[in-house]
Amino acid sequence: MSTDKLIEESRTYLMNTYNRFPVVFVRGRGMKLYDSDGKEYIDFLGGIAVNNLGHCHPKVVVALQKQAQKLIHVSNYFHIEPQIKLGKMLCQNSFADQVFFCNSGAEANEAAIKLARKYAKENMGEDKYEIITALNSFHGRTMATITATGQEKFQKAFTPLLPGFKYVPFGDVGAVAAAITDKTCAVMMEPIQAEGGVNMPPEDYFRELKALLEDRGLLLILDEVQTGMGRTGKLFAYEHYGIEPDIMTLAKALGGGMPIGAMLATKKVAESFSPGDHASTFGGNPLACAAGIASLEAILEDGWLLSSCQRMGDYFRKGLADLQKKYPFIKDIRGKGLIIGVELEFDAGDIVKEALREGYIINYTMQKVLRFVPPLIVTDEEIDGLLDTLERIFDKRYSA
Ligand SMILES: Cc1ncc(COP(=O)(O)O)c(C=O)c1O
Repeated sequence: MSTDKLIEESRTYLMNTYNRFPVVFVRGRGMKLYDSDGKEYIDFLGGIAVNNLGHCHPKVVVALQKQAQKLIHVSNYFHIEPQIKLGKMLCQNSFADQVFFCNSGAEANEAAIKLARKYAKENMGEDKYEIITALNSFHGRTMATITATGQEKFQKAFTPLLPGFKYVPFGDVGAVAAAITDKTCAVMMEPIQAEGGVNMPPEDYFRELKALLEDRGLLLILDEVQTGMGRTGKLFAYEHYGIEPDIMTLAKALGGGMPIGAMLATKKVAESFSPGDHASTFGGNPLACAAGIASLEAILEDGWLLSSCQRMGDYFRKGLADLQKKYPFIKDIRGKGLIIGVELEFDAGDIVKEALREGYIINYTMQKVLRFVPPLIVTDEEIDGLLDTLERIFDKRYSA
Protein backbone atom coordinates (compact mmCIF):
# COMPACT_ATOMS: atom_id res chain seq x y z
CA MET A 1 0.00 0.00 0.00
CA SER A 2 1.30 3.50 -0.82
CA THR A 3 2.25 5.87 1.99
CA ASP A 4 -0.59 8.24 1.04
CA LYS A 5 -3.13 5.40 1.15
CA LEU A 6 -1.81 4.19 4.52
CA ILE A 7 -2.13 7.68 5.99
CA GLU A 8 -5.64 8.05 4.53
CA GLU A 9 -6.71 4.74 6.12
CA SER A 10 -5.03 5.71 9.39
CA ARG A 11 -7.18 8.88 9.46
CA THR A 12 -10.30 6.88 8.53
CA TYR A 13 -10.03 3.99 10.96
CA LEU A 14 -8.08 5.30 13.95
CA MET A 15 -9.48 7.79 16.46
CA ASN A 16 -8.12 11.25 16.15
CA THR A 17 -6.13 11.35 19.41
CA TYR A 18 -2.63 12.07 18.09
CA ASN A 19 -1.14 14.91 16.06
CA ARG A 20 0.72 12.57 13.72
CA PHE A 21 3.41 13.53 11.21
CA PRO A 22 2.75 12.24 7.66
CA VAL A 23 5.37 9.50 8.01
CA VAL A 24 4.95 5.70 8.38
CA PHE A 25 7.93 3.94 9.96
CA VAL A 26 8.32 0.34 8.85
CA ARG A 27 11.77 -0.69 10.06
CA GLY A 28 14.34 0.22 12.71
CA ARG A 29 17.85 -0.74 13.77
CA GLY A 30 19.89 0.90 16.53
CA MET A 31 19.62 4.71 16.21
CA LYS A 32 18.00 4.49 12.78
CA LEU A 33 14.42 4.31 11.54
CA TYR A 34 13.24 3.85 7.94
CA ASP A 35 9.93 5.04 6.53
CA SER A 36 7.63 3.39 3.99
CA ASP A 37 9.39 5.26 1.16
CA GLY A 38 12.82 4.01 2.28
CA LYS A 39 14.03 7.31 3.77
CA GLU A 40 16.46 6.97 6.70
CA TYR A 41 16.10 8.95 9.94
CA ILE A 42 18.26 9.30 13.07
CA ASP A 43 16.04 8.90 16.10
CA PHE A 44 16.52 11.36 18.97
CA LEU A 45 13.08 10.57 20.41
CA GLY A 46 13.45 6.81 20.92
CA GLY A 47 9.69 6.14 20.95
CA ILE A 48 9.47 8.81 23.72
CA ALA A 49 12.17 7.41 26.01
CA VAL A 50 11.23 3.78 25.29
CA ASN A 51 13.96 2.51 22.96
CA ASN A 52 16.85 3.02 25.39
CA LEU A 53 18.80 0.24 23.66
CA GLY A 54 17.94 1.47 20.17
CA HIS A 55 15.56 -0.22 17.77
CA CYS A 56 15.36 -4.01 17.56
CA HIS A 57 18.28 -4.69 19.92
CA PRO A 58 19.51 -8.20 18.98
CA LYS A 59 19.30 -9.49 22.58
CA VAL A 60 15.70 -8.33 22.92
CA VAL A 61 14.78 -9.79 19.51
CA VAL A 62 16.28 -13.20 20.35
CA ALA A 63 14.62 -13.24 23.80
CA LEU A 64 11.26 -12.49 22.19
CA GLN A 65 11.71 -15.15 19.52
CA LYS A 66 12.66 -17.80 22.08
CA GLN A 67 9.84 -16.91 24.46
CA ALA A 68 7.23 -16.71 21.64
CA GLN A 69 8.02 -20.30 20.75
CA LYS A 70 7.62 -21.45 24.36
CA LEU A 71 4.73 -19.54 25.95
CA ILE A 72 3.12 -16.23 24.99
CA HIS A 73 0.47 -15.79 27.65
CA VAL A 74 -0.71 -17.49 30.79
CA SER A 75 -2.97 -16.22 33.55
CA ASN A 76 -1.72 -14.66 36.78
CA TYR A 77 -3.64 -17.45 38.57
CA PHE A 78 -0.32 -19.25 38.05
CA HIS A 79 3.34 -18.45 38.74
CA ILE A 80 5.10 -17.12 35.64
CA GLU A 81 8.82 -17.84 35.17
CA PRO A 82 9.97 -14.72 33.24
CA GLN A 83 7.86 -12.52 35.57
CA ILE A 84 9.60 -13.99 38.64
CA LYS A 85 13.02 -13.48 37.07
CA LEU A 86 12.37 -9.87 36.05
CA GLY A 87 10.82 -9.07 39.45
CA LYS A 88 13.90 -10.49 41.20
CA MET A 89 16.29 -8.53 38.94
CA LEU A 90 14.42 -5.25 39.57
CA CYS A 91 14.44 -5.80 43.35
CA GLN A 92 18.12 -6.77 43.38
CA ASN A 93 18.99 -3.57 41.51
CA SER A 94 16.80 -1.09 43.39
CA PHE A 95 15.51 -0.10 46.85
CA ALA A 96 12.46 -2.31 46.35
CA ASP A 97 11.51 -5.68 47.86
CA GLN A 98 8.46 -6.53 45.71
CA VAL A 99 7.01 -5.71 42.30
CA PHE A 100 3.54 -5.58 40.72
CA PHE A 101 3.56 -5.81 36.91
CA CYS A 102 1.13 -4.05 34.57
CA ASN A 103 1.21 -2.74 31.00
CA SER A 104 1.90 1.00 30.96
CA GLY A 105 3.04 4.00 32.94
CA ALA A 106 -0.48 5.16 33.73
CA GLU A 107 -1.36 1.71 35.04
CA ALA A 108 1.79 1.62 37.17
CA ASN A 109 0.82 4.97 38.69
CA GLU A 110 -2.78 3.78 39.25
CA ALA A 111 -1.35 0.82 41.13
CA ALA A 112 0.90 3.14 43.18
CA ILE A 113 -2.03 5.38 44.12
CA LYS A 114 -4.11 2.36 45.18
CA LEU A 115 -1.25 0.84 47.21
CA ALA A 116 -0.50 4.15 48.96
CA ARG A 117 -4.17 4.60 49.89
CA LYS A 118 -4.57 1.03 51.14
CA TYR A 119 -1.34 1.23 53.15
CA ALA A 120 -2.46 4.54 54.63
CA LYS A 121 -5.91 3.23 55.61
CA GLU A 122 -4.34 0.26 57.35
CA ASN A 123 -1.39 2.00 58.99
CA MET A 124 -2.18 5.71 59.32
CA GLY A 125 -5.98 5.90 59.79
CA GLU A 126 -9.27 5.62 57.84
CA ASP A 127 -9.19 9.21 56.65
CA LYS A 128 -5.69 9.32 55.15
CA TYR A 129 -6.07 9.39 51.40
CA GLU A 130 -4.77 12.69 50.08
CA ILE A 131 -1.82 12.65 47.68
CA ILE A 132 0.26 15.75 46.95
CA THR A 133 1.70 16.03 43.43
CA ALA A 134 3.51 18.77 41.51
CA LEU A 135 2.25 21.44 39.16
CA ASN A 136 3.44 20.72 35.59
CA SER A 137 3.79 17.02 36.41
CA PHE A 138 2.65 14.24 34.10
CA HIS A 139 1.51 10.86 35.39
CA GLY A 140 -0.70 9.41 32.64
CA ARG A 141 -4.12 9.55 30.96
CA THR A 142 -6.44 7.42 33.11
CA MET A 143 -8.86 9.26 35.40
CA ALA A 144 -6.71 8.84 38.52
CA THR A 145 -3.51 9.74 36.70
CA ILE A 146 -4.90 12.84 34.93
CA THR A 147 -6.02 13.90 38.39
CA ALA A 148 -2.51 13.31 39.72
CA THR A 149 -1.12 15.25 36.73
CA GLY A 150 -0.79 18.89 37.76
CA GLN A 151 -1.80 20.36 34.40
CA GLU A 152 -5.32 21.59 33.77
CA LYS A 153 -5.09 21.07 29.99
CA PHE A 154 -5.18 17.28 30.47
CA GLN A 155 -8.07 17.45 32.96
CA LYS A 156 -10.60 20.05 31.93
CA ALA A 157 -12.59 18.03 29.35
CA PHE A 158 -13.02 15.11 31.74
CA THR A 159 -14.20 16.55 35.05
CA PRO A 160 -15.22 15.67 37.70
CA LEU A 161 -11.80 14.49 38.74
CA LEU A 162 -10.97 12.06 41.53
CA PRO A 163 -11.09 13.61 45.01
CA GLY A 164 -8.00 13.63 47.19
CA PHE A 165 -5.23 15.30 45.17
CA LYS A 166 -3.40 18.56 45.85
CA TYR A 167 -0.78 20.34 43.75
CA VAL A 168 2.33 22.26 44.75
CA PRO A 169 5.10 23.96 42.74
CA PHE A 170 7.85 21.47 41.80
CA GLY A 171 11.07 21.91 43.76
CA ASP A 172 9.61 23.78 46.76
CA VAL A 173 9.76 21.74 49.99
CA GLY A 174 8.10 24.54 51.96
CA ALA A 175 5.07 24.29 49.65
CA VAL A 176 4.78 20.54 50.35
CA ALA A 177 5.04 21.17 54.10
CA ALA A 178 2.28 23.79 53.86
CA ALA A 179 0.04 21.49 51.79
CA ILE A 180 0.18 18.53 54.21
CA THR A 181 -3.04 18.05 56.17
CA ASP A 182 -4.45 15.38 58.53
CA LYS A 183 -5.65 13.58 55.40
CA THR A 184 -2.31 13.42 53.52
CA CYS A 185 -0.85 9.97 52.95
CA ALA A 186 1.78 10.44 50.23
CA VAL A 187 3.67 12.74 47.90
CA MET A 188 4.06 11.63 44.27
CA MET A 189 6.73 13.23 42.07
CA GLU A 190 8.83 12.69 38.96
CA PRO A 191 12.57 12.92 39.79
CA ILE A 192 12.86 15.23 36.76
CA GLN A 193 9.64 16.57 35.24
CA ALA A 194 9.73 15.19 31.71
CA GLU A 195 6.56 16.09 29.77
CA GLY A 196 6.36 19.26 31.86
CA GLY A 197 9.43 20.69 30.09
CA VAL A 198 12.43 18.74 31.43
CA ASN A 199 12.36 20.61 34.74
CA MET A 200 15.17 19.87 37.20
CA PRO A 201 14.56 20.14 40.94
CA PRO A 202 16.97 22.18 43.10
CA GLU A 203 20.01 20.12 44.18
CA ASP A 204 18.79 19.31 47.72
CA TYR A 205 15.08 19.08 46.96
CA PHE A 206 14.55 15.34 47.17
CA ARG A 207 16.78 14.94 50.24
CA GLU A 208 14.83 17.63 52.07
CA LEU A 209 11.50 16.27 50.83
CA LYS A 210 12.34 12.75 51.99
CA ALA A 211 13.38 14.07 55.44
CA LEU A 212 10.10 15.98 55.71
CA LEU A 213 8.03 12.94 54.74
CA GLU A 214 9.92 10.66 57.13
CA ASP A 215 9.34 13.16 59.90
CA ARG A 216 5.58 13.20 59.17
CA GLY A 217 5.32 9.44 58.52
CA LEU A 218 4.19 9.91 54.91
CA LEU A 219 5.07 7.95 51.76
CA LEU A 220 7.21 9.09 48.83
CA ILE A 221 6.08 7.76 45.44
CA LEU A 222 8.56 8.39 42.61
CA ASP A 223 7.27 8.22 39.04
CA GLU A 224 10.34 6.97 37.12
CA VAL A 225 8.31 6.00 34.06
CA GLN A 226 10.41 8.32 31.88
CA THR A 227 13.58 8.74 33.97
CA GLY A 228 14.07 5.06 34.86
CA MET A 229 16.04 2.29 33.13
CA GLY A 230 19.24 4.28 32.67
CA ARG A 231 17.87 7.43 31.05
CA THR A 232 19.72 9.80 33.43
CA GLY A 233 22.99 7.80 33.53
CA LYS A 234 22.00 5.77 36.60
CA LEU A 235 19.58 2.87 36.47
CA PHE A 236 17.06 4.97 38.43
CA ALA A 237 17.16 8.75 38.79
CA TYR A 238 16.61 8.65 42.57
CA GLU A 239 20.18 7.28 42.86
CA HIS A 240 21.46 10.78 41.97
CA TYR A 241 19.69 12.26 44.99
CA GLY A 242 20.96 9.94 47.73
CA ILE A 243 17.44 8.96 48.80
CA GLU A 244 15.08 6.03 48.33
CA PRO A 245 11.34 6.19 47.70
CA ASP A 246 8.73 3.91 49.32
CA ILE A 247 7.07 3.24 45.97
CA MET A 248 8.43 3.67 42.41
CA THR A 249 6.77 3.26 39.03
CA LEU A 250 8.38 2.18 35.77
CA ALA A 251 7.23 1.57 32.17
CA LYS A 252 8.52 2.98 28.85
CA ALA A 253 12.06 1.51 28.51
CA LEU A 254 11.39 -1.40 30.88
CA GLY A 255 10.44 -3.81 28.08
CA GLY A 256 12.99 -2.81 25.42
CA GLY A 257 10.02 -1.68 23.28
CA MET A 258 7.44 -4.17 24.54
CA PRO A 259 4.52 -2.73 26.54
CA ILE A 260 5.11 -3.36 30.23
CA GLY A 261 4.84 -1.32 33.43
CA ALA A 262 5.82 -2.02 37.01
CA MET A 263 5.10 -0.68 40.48
CA LEU A 264 7.85 -1.43 43.00
CA ALA A 265 7.69 -0.97 46.77
CA THR A 266 9.39 -1.76 50.04
CA LYS A 267 8.12 -4.93 51.72
CA LYS A 268 6.50 -2.92 54.52
CA VAL A 269 4.31 -1.00 52.04
CA ALA A 270 3.84 -3.82 49.51
CA GLU A 271 2.37 -6.05 52.22
CA SER A 272 -0.79 -3.95 52.22
CA PHE A 273 -1.86 -5.57 48.95
CA SER A 274 -3.50 -8.96 49.29
CA PRO A 275 -5.19 -11.20 46.70
CA GLY A 276 -8.11 -9.37 45.06
CA ASP A 277 -6.84 -5.85 45.78
CA HIS A 278 -5.28 -5.30 42.39
CA ALA A 279 -4.76 -7.27 39.18
CA SER A 280 -4.11 -7.12 35.46
CA THR A 281 -4.83 -9.82 32.87
CA PHE A 282 -1.73 -9.06 30.85
CA GLY A 283 0.44 -7.67 33.68
CA GLY A 284 3.76 -9.51 33.77
CA ASN A 285 3.00 -11.37 30.56
CA PRO A 286 5.78 -13.89 29.69
CA LEU A 287 6.64 -12.23 26.37
CA ALA A 288 6.87 -8.70 27.81
CA CYS A 289 8.90 -9.96 30.79
CA ALA A 290 11.31 -11.91 28.56
CA ALA A 291 11.97 -8.67 26.67
CA GLY A 292 12.35 -6.87 30.01
CA ILE A 293 14.95 -9.35 31.25
CA ALA A 294 16.99 -9.09 28.04
CA SER A 295 16.74 -5.34 28.12
CA LEU A 296 17.75 -4.96 31.80
CA GLU A 297 20.66 -7.39 31.29
CA ALA A 298 21.86 -5.32 28.32
CA ILE A 299 21.60 -2.05 30.29
CA LEU A 300 23.55 -3.46 33.24
CA GLU A 301 26.24 -5.27 31.25
CA ASP A 302 29.60 -3.82 32.37
CA GLY A 303 27.90 -0.52 33.22
CA TRP A 304 29.03 0.56 29.75
CA LEU A 305 25.70 1.97 28.65
CA LEU A 306 25.12 3.97 31.83
CA SER A 307 28.54 5.63 31.76
CA SER A 308 28.17 6.30 28.04
CA CYS A 309 24.76 7.88 28.72
CA GLN A 310 26.37 10.30 31.19
CA ARG A 311 29.24 11.11 28.81
CA MET A 312 27.03 11.57 25.75
CA GLY A 313 24.61 13.67 27.79
CA ASP A 314 27.44 15.99 28.85
CA TYR A 315 28.78 16.12 25.29
CA PHE A 316 25.31 16.92 23.91
CA ARG A 317 24.67 19.67 26.48
CA LYS A 318 28.09 21.21 25.76
CA GLY A 319 27.28 21.32 22.02
CA LEU A 320 23.93 22.89 22.79
CA ALA A 321 25.61 25.46 25.06
CA ASP A 322 27.87 26.39 22.12
CA LEU A 323 24.75 26.91 19.98
CA GLN A 324 23.26 29.04 22.75
CA LYS A 325 26.22 31.45 22.49
CA LYS A 326 25.34 32.00 18.84
CA TYR A 327 21.54 32.03 19.18
CA PRO A 328 20.26 34.14 22.08
CA PHE A 329 16.72 32.82 21.52
CA ILE A 330 17.88 29.63 23.30
CA LYS A 331 16.78 30.54 26.82
CA ASP A 332 17.82 27.48 28.79
CA ILE A 333 19.40 24.02 28.49
CA ARG A 334 18.46 21.47 31.15
CA GLY A 335 18.53 17.78 31.93
CA LYS A 336 20.61 14.90 33.19
CA GLY A 337 22.17 12.09 31.19
CA LEU A 338 20.13 11.73 28.01
CA ILE A 339 16.94 13.54 28.94
CA ILE A 340 17.60 17.04 27.67
CA GLY A 341 15.34 20.07 27.30
CA VAL A 342 16.17 23.21 25.32
CA GLU A 343 13.83 26.08 26.04
CA LEU A 344 13.36 28.52 23.17
CA GLU A 345 11.81 31.97 23.14
CA PHE A 346 9.27 30.80 20.55
CA ASP A 347 7.07 27.81 19.70
CA ALA A 348 9.36 24.88 18.84
CA GLY A 349 6.92 23.07 16.51
CA ASP A 350 8.43 24.35 13.25
CA ILE A 351 11.95 23.33 14.34
CA VAL A 352 10.72 19.78 14.95
CA LYS A 353 9.05 19.65 11.50
CA GLU A 354 12.14 21.03 9.79
CA ALA A 355 14.40 18.51 11.58
CA LEU A 356 12.13 15.67 10.44
CA ARG A 357 12.48 16.84 6.83
CA GLU A 358 16.26 16.73 7.37
CA GLY A 359 16.05 13.16 8.67
CA TYR A 360 16.22 13.80 12.45
CA ILE A 361 13.41 12.78 14.79
CA ILE A 362 13.18 15.23 17.68
CA ASN A 363 10.29 16.40 19.80
CA TYR A 364 8.97 19.33 21.82
CA THR A 365 6.90 19.74 24.91
CA MET A 366 5.17 22.66 26.65
CA GLN A 367 5.22 24.47 23.26
CA LYS A 368 8.69 25.99 23.65
CA VAL A 369 10.92 23.20 24.91
CA LEU A 370 12.77 20.98 22.45
CA ARG A 371 13.10 17.58 24.13
CA PHE A 372 15.77 15.00 23.32
CA VAL A 373 15.45 11.46 24.72
CA PRO A 374 17.53 9.42 22.25
CA PRO A 375 18.50 5.77 22.69
CA LEU A 376 21.36 5.55 25.20
CA ILE A 377 23.56 4.04 22.46
CA VAL A 378 23.79 7.42 20.69
CA THR A 379 27.33 8.34 19.58
CA ASP A 380 29.17 11.67 19.46
CA GLU A 381 29.05 11.58 15.62
CA GLU A 382 25.26 11.29 15.71
CA ILE A 383 25.05 14.14 18.23
CA ASP A 384 27.36 16.26 16.01
CA GLY A 385 25.09 15.50 13.03
CA LEU A 386 22.02 16.72 14.90
CA LEU A 387 23.80 19.82 16.25
CA ASP A 388 24.91 20.76 12.68
CA THR A 389 21.35 20.28 11.48
CA LEU A 390 19.92 22.40 14.29
CA GLU A 391 22.49 25.10 13.49
CA ARG A 392 21.36 25.11 9.84
CA ILE A 393 17.71 25.30 10.88
CA PHE A 394 18.38 28.05 13.44
CA ASP A 395 20.39 30.00 10.84
CA LYS A 396 17.47 29.90 8.44
CA ARG A 397 15.14 31.17 11.13
CA TYR A 398 17.60 33.82 12.18
CA SER A 399 18.11 35.18 8.69
CA ALA A 400 14.37 34.92 7.80
C1 LIG B 1 6.56 10.47 34.03
C2 LIG B 1 5.47 9.76 33.28
N1 LIG B 1 4.56 9.06 33.97
C3 LIG B 1 3.59 8.38 33.35
C4 LIG B 1 3.46 8.39 31.98
C5 LIG B 1 2.36 7.64 31.31
O1 LIG B 1 2.87 6.50 30.72
P1 LIG B 1 2.00 5.68 29.64
O2 LIG B 1 1.86 6.54 28.44
O3 LIG B 1 2.80 4.43 29.41
O4 LIG B 1 0.69 5.38 30.30
C6 LIG B 1 4.39 9.13 31.22
C7 LIG B 1 4.28 9.19 29.75
O5 LIG B 1 4.80 10.04 29.09
C8 LIG B 1 5.43 9.82 31.89
O6 LIG B 1 6.34 10.52 31.21
